Amino acid sequence: MKEQLYALRTDAAVRIAQAGDTTQLEAVRVALLGKKGELTAILKQMGKLSAEERPVIGQLANEARGELEGLLAARAAALGAEETARRLAAETLDVTMPGSRKRLGHKHPLTVVLDEVKEIFLGMGFSVATGPEVEWDYYNFEALNLPQGHPARDTQDTFYITETMLLRTQTSPVQVRVMEQQKPPIRIIAPGRVYRSDAVDATHSPLFHQIEGLVVDEGITMADLKGSLDQLAKRLFGEETRTRFRPHHFPFTEPSCEVDISCFRCGGAGCPMCKGEGWIEILGAGMVHPKVLAGCGIDPERYSGFAFGVGLERLTMFRFQIDDMRLLFENDMRFLGQF
Ligand code: PHE
Repeated sequence: MKEQLYALRTDAAVRIAQAGDTTQLEAVRVALLGKKGELTAILKQMGKLSAEERPVIGQLANEARGELEGLLAARAAALGAEETARRLAAETLDVTMPGSRKRLGHKHPLTVVLDEVKEIFLGMGFSVATGPEVEWDYYNFEALNLPQGHPARDTQDTFYITETMLLRTQTSPVQVRVMEQQKPPIRIIAPGRVYRSDAVDATHSPLFHQIEGLVVDEGITMADLKGSLDQLAKRLFGEETRTRFRPHHFPFTEPSCEVDISCFRCGGAGCPMCKGEGWIEILGAGMVHPKVLAGCGIDPERYSGFAFGVGLERLTMFRFQIDDMRLLFENDMRFLGQF
């Protein structure tokens, strides 16, 4: 038994030293000193010893236990310190490291320009009106002096839901809806989506946006229209911008005009941007047709008004010098990220 105890002491010292972490060390402790451990196994043989041998071996066994406990405690302390050091090293925070940045979104270029236009007209006392995109034939055409079979309908072919219901081709039906609801003085803009059965190319899309304007009051003249649109052009494209009003025809305005602005690239001299013209067409407008006023219950003898409709995509393309309308709908971040 003496030899067994000595052997246990040397063997145990090695195993304790080799335990790589506190879990392994605990396993070694249980194997050596536990109830079913190796020291207990040796001590179970004590019964076989003579009365003289027993205290001697007992003494040796106690020494062995004491020594093993000492070694275990020392190793536990050393492993604990190592583990703490390792954990501290692993958990060290480098507060000087750059954080992970979240990329902020921003307004779509169409929204940027729409917001500018709204701002300009709100400043002139207009308010914002809206109407449905799925519209009655009545509001989109009929009430705008475009009865069934009118040739001007051909230029605004659209998507029909039923014979009498369609996707609106223009924001002008909002004029009628507002005039039915409100009596003069009226001063509104009506931005929104419109639809036409057009194939997609650099300047056409079956879905695009218009901003309608409508003013109705006593004594409204073409001069009010010119003044308002002049403001719009100057605020959007710069103070030096001039406007030009050309006679045109719309069934729901009389007289009607198309409005050009002096080319913001060449100032009117002629360049590729304005195709050598010096002028760029931006919108259609006119004085609200007496038939349209009367149809909405507004007396054309007492009141007059002006209206205009401007394409938001066109404005945005000129504003940011974008040469292909498709870019505004593709949602490619390489493009949108530039605004
Ligand atoms: N609605 C017309 C268009 O889409 C534009 C317009 C609006 C013209 C208001 C005159 C008055 O072409």
